[in-house]
Amino acid sequence: MIDVENLTKRYGPVTAIRDVSFNVAPGEIVGFLGPNGAGKSTTMRILSCFMPATGGNARVAGYDVFRESMQVRRRIGYLPENVPLYTDMRVAPYLDFVAELKGVSRSHRKAHVAEVMERCQVSDMQNRLIGKLSKGYRQRVGLAQAIINDPHVLILDEPTIGLDPRQITQIRELIKSLAGEHTVILSTHILPEVSMVCSGVIIINKGSIVAQGPIDTLVEQFFPASRVHAEIFGPPEAVRTGLASIPGVTLVVDGGGTQDGLGSYLVEAPRGRDVRTEIFMLAAQQRWELRELRRVGMTLEEVFMRIVAGEETGPSEEGTPDGAVPVEPEPSTLTAEEVER
Ligand SMILES: Nc1ncnc2c1ncn2[C@@H]1O[C@H](COP(=O)(O)OP(=O)(O)OP(=O)(O)O)[C@@H](O)[C@H]1O
Ligand SMILES: [Mg+2]
Repeated sequence: MIDVENLTKRYGPVTAIRDVSFNVAPGEIVGFLGPNGAGKSTTMRILSCFMPATGGNARVAGYDVFRESMQVRRRIGYLPENVPLYTDMRVAPYLDFVAELKGVSRSHRKAHVAEVMERCQVSDMQNRLIGKLSKGYRQRVGLAQAIINDPHVLILDEPTIGLDPRQITQIRELIKSLAGEHTVILSTHILPEVSMVCSGVIIINKGSIVAQGPIDTLVEQFFPASRVHAEIFGPPEAVRTGLASIPGVTLVVDGGGTQDGLGSYLVEAPRGRDVRTEIFMLAAQQRWELRELRRVGMTLEEVFMRIVAGEETGPSEEGTPDGAVPVEPEPSTLTAEEVER
């Protein structure tokens, strides 16, 4: 539904994106991640026909964004980074105007605008001047105008920025509810948001795609280890040595302890090797009290930090358009603080 091939954009001497390639399948919701200045908004502006690329190809909803931009525009909803709204219009007439521009038939329009205002929770502001709305409400009106023509494809540049926590939850639910019938690409800096809303991610750094694929696949590739968090009452030195001697254990990180002798430990083993039974047996054998034993999942945040930090320090990997990235993960260097998180 979104097919991007070797897209490059130069602003004078600045190359904002270089050879960017990715695909988003119909009905999928994909998170577009990257640090500030990585090229997310640039890519989204090109996909929404807002500006041309310097090179490469992009097809959205089956049409070429350069040669068939009118066809593309009809089928997409775009929420830009800075929502350009007519500040001297009132909310409901503005949305009605956008609906008319986007070809929503006159007979449907009124009911449709009312429904979209309800979904984006702006009904109570429908008679206000847009220029007098708070930032969060403007963002909601921006989202309302993006979905007003029930587009096949939604391109949302930081859709939840500036919203209050309750509204963030509602907007996420709204976006999630679009899955299946709509294809969505959304950029955000809130990584848990991606895990909550998206099935796949595309990570861009310094203008190049550095990873893409389903979230679980990425997490597995970047963290080929499984981790267990254990809280044990026992002499720390002996506990550490005992844990490290369990077959398969590759790393034991001491997360510190409390005054009364309760220590917390993070134990790593290769993925697929569950060492929880051995930890339990060890504690029972040594008569150490086992307070807690649980698997610790890897978060997308950790994957993101690892990829982006790796790019900062190491030689950069070539982009791999066809799937998740084959970057060799470094040995785990988790600190006790990271364990806490
Ligand atoms: N109109 C412009 N003229 C010149 N350079 C630009 C222009 N717009 C963006 N850039 C540059 O292109 C690069 C990518 O910017 P872009 O806005 O796409 O990043 P982004 O990933 O959206 O960042 P952010 O997370 O801060 O929104 C940056 O180096 C930026 O300075
Ligand atoms: Mg941006």
